[in-house]
Amino acid sequence: MNKLNVYLSNLAVWTAKLHNIHWNVTGCAFVQVHEFTEKLYDETFEQYDAVAEIQKMRNEMPLVKLSDFLANATLKEIDAKDFSVSEALALVESDMKLMSALAKEIRDEAANKDDFQVVALFEGYLEGYAKNLWFLRAMLTK
Ligand SMILES: [Fe+2]
Repeated sequence: MNKLNVYLSNLAVWTAKLHNIHWNVTGCAFVQVHEFTEKLYDETFEQYDAVAEIQKMRNEMPLVKLSDFLANATLKEIDAKDFSVSEALALVESDMKLMSALAKEIRDEAANKDDFQVVALFEGYLEGYAKNLWFLRAMLTK
């Protein structure tokens, strides 16, 4: 499976998973985590469309089925339950590290092929991840 489709699959799973955390986090920082995850799922949903469309521009076919997303995602979904604030943030942090590492691989492979559109798109994503990983680190500091 090409890496853009793996990344797209991860975005589909992550968008659903971020909603799980958004709805089910509990604790005194509920509002902050609830709002932070909303900002993140708005971003993943925008990426979802952009990553599919850049594949269409390359005359490639993006995956479209939920079953294909689940089969190809490297990011794992989780069951619904109450999440403590630190558990919720740790889940978001580990998924974001995974997405950032995959985005870096895609960016580097595109740079080797002089595919500047993919490079530009994914450098933007990497910048966003760097900022949000800092936010997460700061929030998780005891
Ligand atoms: Fe919401």
